[in-house]
Amino acid sequence: MSKFMDWIDARFPATKMWEDHLSKYYAPKNFNFLYFFGSLALLVLVNQIVTGVWLTMSFTPSAEEAFASVEYIMRDVEYGWILRYLHSTGASAFFIVVYLHMFRGLLYGSYQKPRELVWLFGMLIYLALMAEAFMGYLLPWGQMSYWGAQVIISLFGAIPVIGGDLTQWIRGDYLISGITLNRFFALHVVALPIVILGLVVLHILALHEVGSNNPDGVDIKKKKDENGIPLDGIPFHPYYTVKDIVGVVVFLFVFCAVVFFFPEMGGYFLEKPNFEQANAFKTPEHIAPVWYFTPFYAILRAVPDKLMGVIAMGAAIAVLFVLPWLDRSPVRSMRYKGWISKVFLLVFCVAFVILGVLGVLAPTPGRTLLSQVCTVLYFAYFLLMPFYTRLEKAKPVPERVTG
Ligand code: HEM
Repeated sequence: MSKFMDWIDARFPATKMWEDHLSKYYAPKNFNFLYFFGSLALLVLVNQIVTGVWLTMSFTPSAEEAFASVEYIMRDVEYGWILRYLHSTGASAFFIVVYLHMFRGLLYGSYQKPRELVWLFGMLIYLALMAEAFMGYLLPWGQMSYWGAQVIISLFGAIPVIGGDLTQWIRGDYLISGITLNRFFALHVVALPIVILGLVVLHILALHEVGSNNPDGVDIKKKKDENGIPLDGIPFHPYYTVKDIVGVVVFLFVFCAVVFFFPEMGGYFLEKPNFEQANAFKTPEHIAPVWYFTPFYAILRAVPDKLMGVIAMGAAIAVLFVLPWLDRSPVRSMRYKGWISKVFLLVFCVAFVILGVLGVLAPTPGRTLLSQVCTVLYFAYFLLMPFYTRLEKAKPVPERVTG
């Protein structure tokens, strides 16, 4: 075996990669459960790719046959139903896991120097993931696939001068048609998965270049032993590979319960109008995107002017990109930030959840007002950050991690 590995290592850096990224990658010893979500995102990514490849074997990307081919997968293809439910539940699970992963970043200041690129690659993954989910949702060619895509693509029409041509260019037709379905299929199954995989590699390479942050926000590289190993670091393998298995088991319990017992999740994971085939002449009574887009949809609807709404929605995502440069706090973790940061983060999270709920519901004057308040709170968290993070008094950060 060792001769075989010598032969490989003389030609390919297998052992070096294993050591650099696993057995000799020293991670802080105080990771908590919030650190499970990176590896869980990897697990869901693999699930989406594997089930996606198998679904593609029986799916027909044409306006005439797409809906029926999904029915065929559900009823006739051996284990087709489980492949589809693993994939559709996986889409929602992906966003749950990624939102918690991002929340961990906000909580412990993981986006701060020197991890700005880790955060930026993460944000690019998030954008690509949203595009991937949006395009995937058109494929079953149900009523919500069709009308959801209609609403979102028509938003580009609000852009002055080029709007009309742009929407037509995206659709490839004067209305959403089989041509749109076909190009979304190509992007969903080939182009975007490649982009996402590439970005995930860059995300992890950037992280391993600088090392992981931790719940204390302490730089473990500052205190090393005589061999140059961080005193508060433990090798990722076997310590965290084993610990991550605990996260995987708990995750799979919940995930499988949903796949086997509540795959529609009350209409949130698979929306009810999508059990009816797309019909360009019949608008559903109430059009709402899938839950993971609804906070941004609520921001869009909170602004009365269509163009300004589109700009507000774009800005809500864009502002996350500049987060590393908005936080001026001398400390990373919320444990040592002042109370203003804590209140702002809490208010931001509550506003984000309320926006998510409002985005699912039909608008009323009261709900619109509430969504406007929450939109202001959403932006206040970011735009006031340069001020409150400097103004407040941070607690002293310990020299070593606390436990
Ligand atoms: C497919 C999606 C993603 C995958 C597979 C992924 C994977 C990972 C993994 C394996 C880690 C190391 C383990 C951990 O810290 O949990 C990590 C760390 C990190 N990720 Fe992601 N990630 C994804 C999306 C994102 C997004 C959308 C963001 C934020 C915009 C993000 C921001 C971060 C940050 C800041 C860290 C460092 C955390 C720290 O050291 O405290 N990631 N990611």
